[in-house]
Amino acid sequence: MSQLEVYNPSTNEIIERLNYTSHDEIHSQIERARTAFEEWKLVDAHERSAKLYQWGKLIDEHQDELAKLITLEGGKPLAEAKGEVIYANAYVKWYAEEAKRVYGRTIPANTSSKKIVIDKFPVGVVGAITPWNFPAAMITRKMAPALAAGCTIICKPAVKTPLTTIKLVALAHEAGIPKDAISYIIASGKDAGDIFTTHKLINKVTFTGSTAVGKSLIEQSAQSVKNVTMELGGLAPLIVHKDADIEAAVEGTIASKFRNAGQTCICANRIFVHRDIADQYTNRLIEKVNELTVGDGLQNDVNIGPLIDKAAVEKVMTHITDAQAKGGKLSRSVDEIQALKGNFLKPVVISNVNLDMKVIHEETFGPVAPVMVYEDLDEAIKMANDTEFGLASYFFTNDYRTGLKLYNELEYGVVGWNDGGPSAAHAPFGGLKESGYGREGGTEGIEPYLETKYLSIGI
Ligand code: SIN
Repeated sequence: MSQLEVYNPSTNEIIERLNYTSHDEIHSQIERARTAFEEWKLVDAHERSAKLYQWGKLIDEHQDELAKLITLEGGKPLAEAKGEVIYANAYVKWYAEEAKRVYGRTIPANTSSKKIVIDKFPVGVVGAITPWNFPAAMITRKMAPALAAGCTIICKPAVKTPLTTIKLVALAHEAGIPKDAISYIIASGKDAGDIFTTHKLINKVTFTGSTAVGKSLIEQSAQSVKNVTMELGGLAPLIVHKDADIEAAVEGTIASKFRNAGQTCICANRIFVHRDIADQYTNRLIEKVNELTVGDGLQNDVNIGPLIDKAAVEKVMTHITDAQAKGGKLSRSVDEIQALKGNFLKPVVISNVNLDMKVIHEETFGPVAPVMVYEDLDEAIKMANDTEFGLASYFFTNDYRTGLKLYNELEYGVVGWNDGGPSAAHAPFGGLKESGYGREGGTEGIEPYLETKYLSIGI
């Protein structure tokens, strides 16, 4: 059986070898998940809640170990990795509560001889496919609501970061969640996607990843009309208007742009700044970016870890050199950006950006902050919306009319107003347009794991 080699992106050393799950085993795992579903759906909501709470307690107790795994396999600095464990666990704790709040309704009938009752039922067996950039949080924000709803779930973590999932699933079992109610497979995205979207016992497919892969999963799922949730790509705009608090805007930009070395779907990808404050904002941004330290996430005081692999570095460098060739001004030279070698890139601000550059049209997924100047707010909104993506957007203004206009007109599912870090387990996360559909987090995040049925009683 072939093996998966898991690498540390800081050192490019192999840290673990894992057996791929065979196709036969995946099929039998799905069958066992179906049998487990018949039992788990009957466990009362309070007991499911208690088990999720116990899982959360164990995650808290293993916070350091989980954070180290995230840093080792994903590269994220240890402090940020700890933040991710807390964020991941917030989903477990939130859905431990939501398990008890899956409410039905009654509807007044149009005749006194009928009563209409609406109820929610778990969807069934869920196949989840998750990305490498949040090895813990993207797992729990699917697993916790699925289990809370009474579904069973099989997760296919990214092949680059499976170790955190393995630990999280082991802790779930230790918490008393049945083995076949929550499990993982080690498989390629293609194999898992093919099996999950076509297996008759999989009732729902949930995916976080690129829009291109999401589209093919939707296409494949259409054959059996599977229920799907898609959290896909982004190209987040960040608008700094002339009345913004510059210091807060710079802090917010750093928080959004450089989280996980710029490798999140909601990192600010395109920064639009009003001409009146452009120099002041850009100079301050460069000052703050120059203070960020880059290195192995296990070292103390590192702000930015490595990119996930060589291909990611090459792609980001293509965006930088493309911008430079088209007139972009780099805050540090190409040599300096690459000075640390390996998968490390020093962060860079690019000014004098124009609409012809890749950094404006493609998701960079790296520590690059391109700044483009605008004169008129409507022009900025038009540029911000000029994309097929609609996941996250940000703006900085202290004028409430400008803020409300931006909120209303930006075509994005997540909007940060004077806030570079809007993600939260208690809020619904998800995109418009080609950034996908369905929401994760908040009250809304359990809905994708529930079906609505109604009962009409003749009395
Ligand atoms: C993502 O990058 O897909 C998730 C980001 C978040 O949850 O904040």
